[in-house]
Amino acid sequence: MKAAVIERYGPPYSLKIRQMPQPEIGTSELLVKVSASSVNPVDWKIRQGDLKIVTGNDFPKILGADFCGEVVAVGAGVSGYEKGDKVFGMERAVKGGAYAEYLKVKPSTLAPKPAKLSDEEAAALPLAGLTALQGLRDFGRLEKDDKVLINGASGGVGTFAVQIAKAMGAHVTGVCSTSKLEMVKLLGAEKVIDYTTEKVLKPEDKYHLIFDAHGNLSFGEAQKCLYDDGMLVTTLPSVKSILDIGFSKLQKHKQMKTFFITPNHADLMELKRLVDEGKLKVVIDKVYPLEELDLAHSYSETGHARGKIAISI
Ligand SMILES: NC(=O)c1ccc[n+]([C@@H]2O[C@H](COP(=O)([O-])OP(=O)(O)OC[C@H]3O[C@@H](n4cnc5c(N)ncnc54)[C@H](OP(=O)(O)O)[C@@H]3O)[C@@H](O)[C@H]2O)c1
Repeated sequence: MKAAVIERYGPPYSLKIRQMPQPEIGTSELLVKVSASSVNPVDWKIRQGDLKIVTGNDFPKILGADFCGEVVAVGAGVSGYEKGDKVFGMERAVKGGAYAEYLKVKPSTLAPKPAKLSDEEAAALPLAGLTALQGLRDFGRLEKDDKVLINGASGGVGTFAVQIAKAMGAHVTGVCSTSKLEMVKLLGAEKVIDYTTEKVLKPEDKYHLIFDAHGNLSFGEAQKCLYDDGMLVTTLPSVKSILDIGFSKLQKHKQMKTFFITPNHADLMELKRLVDEGKLKVVIDKVYPLEELDLAHSYSETGHARGKIAISI
């Protein structure tokens, strides 16, 4: 099968198109013929070798977490799916495998594809959409009528977070750059802050939750804008955020958290429900063919994509 692989860690041109053996499924797995995938920053962080402590030094590696495609084989122990079903989902990024024509997956990592979405849109949804959902609902404990600030509101995670927070009944303020203010408003933000011309954290503005999908807000500054039981949730686990979280534990009420997304069927079904009910759209900036995955990675690395970057396979 055709796949985009790396044979060593390095820059975008390390991605090569190669013929690789088609995966063989076990009894508890399905084989998906992949029609589309997407780029998430974790993919190029893995490609650069930033996570090699987890991803190791075995090459070639097929990267890619998100997928949409058709079930072409079902393990004897799997129920609920049959050949021909259109599905979408995500593999754990450190395992990868989605930048290829075929991917073997466990049933817990996929769900029926939302009928309204194109294959590229469906493939752009899982990792970023689940991050937004789990970050707001499980870690941020966002509730109806809460005020939430979403930093990085115009990116992959942010465009979903704005819409999911609105669907949860929260009052959303989105932070992005000038050219994307209108889009973030259209997605459901009541207020927008242009980080290129305004201060993002103003002590006179208070929030129940600050959801940092860019990862540059410090707890020290953010806590001045949190209500007493407020929370800062960042999607970027880093040395700085771990230190900030330690500092936040010394506080009585205001807290900071970070997290790693967990793929699961129930949450994919929740994203599907939001799409089916017209509450969640997928904003696609560009679609690249698999053969131009290096260009797609380079574009994602600018950190300024408008929504998601999809890959057609
Ligand atoms: N913990 C997890 O499990 C998990 C899961 C998914 C993602 N992540 C991490 O979350 C981060 C965002 O992911 P993504 O897929 O949304 O990335 P993305 O699509 O590249 O979006 C990045 C966003 O950051 C915004 N941005 C750039 N500079 C900014 C600044 N100074 N202030 C505020 N916003 C700024 C950009 O907005 P403009 O274009 O308007 O400048 C862009 O919308 C990445 O670091 C990723 O690795 C973590």
